[in-house]
Amino acid sequence: MSDQPISYQRTTVTAALPYTNGPIHIGHLAGVYVPADIYCRYLRLKGEDVLFVCGSDEHGVAIPMKAKKEGVSPKELIDKYHGIIKKSFEDFGITFDNYSRTSAAIHHQTAGDFFKKLYDQGDFLEETSEQLYDAEADQFLADRFVTGTCPKCGHDQAYGDQCENCGSSLNATDLISPRSVLTGAVPTLKETRHWFLPLDQYEGFLKKWILEGHKKDWKPNVYGQCKSWIDDGLKPRAVTRDLDWGIPVPVPGGEGKVLYVWFDAPIGYISSTKEWAAREGKDWEAYWKAPDTRLLHFIGKDNIVFHCIIFPSMLKAHGDFILPENVPANEFLNLEGQKLSTSRNWAVWLHEYLQDFTDMQDVLRYVLTANAPETKDNDFTWKDFQARNNNELVAIFGNFVNRVTVLTHKYVGGKVPSPGSLTQNDRETLEAIKRYPARIGDSLERFRFREASQDVMNLARMGNKYLADEEPWKVIKEDPDRAGTILYVGLQVAAALSILSEPFLPFTSAKLKVMLRGDLLTAKLGWNSLSTAQILLPEGHQIGKSELLFRKIEDSEIQAQLDKLQATKKSNEMKESAIAPQKETVNFEDFSKMDLRVGTILSAEKMPKTKKLIVMKVDTGIDTRTIVSGIAEYFNPEELIGKKVTVLANLAPRPLRGVESQGMILLAEGPDGGLVFMTPEDLSVPNGSQIN
Ligand code: 2FM
Ligand code: ZN
Repeated sequence: MSDQPISYQRTTVTAALPYTNGPIHIGHLAGVYVPADIYCRYLRLKGEDVLFVCGSDEHGVAIPMKAKKEGVSPKELIDKYHGIIKKSFEDFGITFDNYSRTSAAIHHQTAGDFFKKLYDQGDFLEETSEQLYDAEADQFLADRFVTGTCPKCGHDQAYGDQCENCGSSLNATDLISPRSVLTGAVPTLKETRHWFLPLDQYEGFLKKWILEGHKKDWKPNVYGQCKSWIDDGLKPRAVTRDLDWGIPVPVPGGEGKVLYVWFDAPIGYISSTKEWAAREGKDWEAYWKAPDTRLLHFIGKDNIVFHCIIFPSMLKAHGDFILPENVPANEFLNLEGQKLSTSRNWAVWLHEYLQDFTDMQDVLRYVLTANAPETKDNDFTWKDFQARNNNELVAIFGNFVNRVTVLTHKYVGGKVPSPGSLTQNDRETLEAIKRYPARIGDSLERFRFREASQDVMNLARMGNKYLADEEPWKVIKEDPDRAGTILYVGLQVAAALSILSEPFLPFTSAKLKVMLRGDLLTAKLGWNSLSTAQILLPEGHQIGKSELLFRKIEDSEIQAQLDKLQATKKSNEMKESAIAPQKETVNFEDFSKMDLRVGTILSAEKMPKTKKLIVMKVDTGIDTRTIVSGIAEYFNPEELIGKKVTVLANLAPRPLRGVESQGMILLAEGPDGGLVFMTPEDLSVPNGSQIN
C-alpha cells in the first residue's frame, strides 16, 4: 500500500514478449502493455527505481509456419514484424527501458548458458520417448504443429502445447485424435531423445511459494489457475524440440534440436535487461538477483502457467535468481462480441489505429483501461470507444480544462490570480486534491487500473462541478476578485490533473503541462509532493495558450471502423464456408440408374402447419405428379409457378406429413446461403427431356 514504507529498492517489470508472427492488437494492449506502462510510469513519477523490459519472441513453431504462409524466410518474417511492433509501441507511448528480441546474440548466449547450467547441475531428466511424427513432412509434431481434441474439455482444436479453450497446458501426446497441421495426416509415434524439466519435483516448492505465500496478494484468477494446476499434479515437461528454428541445444546429443520456445522466451526478460545495462552502464544483476528487488510479470491469462509454474521452477533450479513478487495477469478482451484473432484478422491493429486516429493515443489508452478485462473477459466496441471519448474525455476532462484556462486568459490575462479569502467549498476542493495521489496510487498498487483511471476522471469531474457551482462567468460581473479566487482553485485542480493523469494519458498530460507552463513547476511537483503541496500553481504564474485536449469523434469515423470489421466478417465467412469434400465414387451403372428429367412447376402451395414444406404439381413430361420440397424458407409459392426445373423422377416415393412426394427437384446452394434451381439454359427444352 502506498502509505506504508517500502522495503524494496527497485522494481523489475516485464511485459510478455509478443510473438513476431503478426502486429500488436488491442487485446495485447489491454491485457499487458497498457497496464504495465501505467504501472511503470507511476513508479517513475514517485521517484522509484524501475526497469521496464520487453522484446520480440521470435522462436517457436508459429514463426516458420507463418513465414511459409507468407512465402518468406523466418528471418524476413521476424524482421518485418519486429520492426512494426517496436515502432507501434513507441508511437503509442509504451515506455520500455529496453525492447530487445530473442534472435539477438546476447539472448542466444544467455538462454544457452541457462540451459547448460541446469544440465550441468543434473536438473533435467533425459529421456527417449515416443513423440508424434508426421512421416509425410518428415518432422516431429509438437506444440502448434499438431491439433486434436483437448483431453480436459473436449475442444476439438486444441494445440499440442495448450488448449486455448480451457487454458490447459498440454503435451502433444495428450491430444485425442491428433492431426498434423502441416499435412493433415494422422501422426505416428517415433522415438526421440529430449530433456525434461521434472516439474513434479517442484510441487512442494510451488505449493509453499504460491498456495501458502501468495493466497492474499495474487489476483484470484491467477491464484485459482495455479492452484488447479498444482492440485492436478504436475508432470515433467520437455524443454527441447526437434526443430531447426530456435536456440541450439548446447549439450552433447543436442545436435539438430532447439530449446523449447517457452524455455527460452522468459529468459528473454533477463537478456533484455543485460542489453539495457550494457548500454546504460548499469548492473543487470541487481535487477534479477538482489533480494530487495521486486519482480513483476505483466501477462495475459493464457501465459499464467508459464510465468507462475514453469519459469519460476526454472529460476528456482538455477538458484541465482529472485522469484516474481506478483503476476497480475488479465483476462481476455473481445472485439464486438467475438474473440480477437490474428489469423482471422478479427482485431483492431495498433499500427492501423495510429493511422486512422492520428494523435489520439490517449483515447485508446483510456478506453482500454476504463474497460480493462481485469477480473473477467470484456468486450471492446467502437460505440463504447466513441462514448467514452465524447462523454468522458471531451465532456468532462477536456471541458473542465478548457473552461478554466480560457476564463483565466479572458478575465485575468492568463496569470494565476491571487486566492483572496477562501470559502468552505474552496478549501474542501483544495483539500480533496491532496487525497487523490494516495487513492490512485493505492488502486495501482493493487493492480486495479480501471478504478485508478476512474479516479482521475473523478478529479476532473470534481473540477467541473466546482466551476458549475461557483459560476465564475456570472460572478465576474459583480465581484472580479471572487471570480479570481474561483479560477485560482480551478487552476490547482487542472495542475493536479496534469500530474495524476500522466500514467494513463501521457500525451494529454504533456500537453496540459505545456498549457499550464507547469514544466516550470513539475521539477518540484511529483506524485508524492502533490499530497502535501499547499499550492501547485502559485499566484502570478503565467499560463500558456489554451488548447483543446480532446476532440469529438464523429459517427462517420465509427461507422468506417464498423464497416471495416463487417468486411472482415464477410471475407472470413467466405473462407470458412468450406467446399464440401467429394463423395465416394459411384460407377457409371449406378449413375445411369438415375432418371433426371426437365419439368415445369404447375402449381405450388405451402403445406399447412409446417414451416418449410411446399407441395408442388410438376409436369415431368411423363406425367403430372406431386413433389414435396423443404424450400418454403427460401421461396414464396407464387414465384415457383411456371419454373423450368430438373427433376429426379425415379426417386422412390416417400410420404411427407401425409402427402406422398414422387420425386425430387434439384437445387444448388447459392452464394449468400440461398438456393438456386437447376434450370436448363434454353427454356424451350420440352418437359420430359432426359438429362444424361
Ligand atoms: O503468448 C505470447 O504471445 C508469448 N510470445 C509470450 C511470451 S512471454 C515470455 F515468456 F516471453
Ligand atoms: Zn481444453
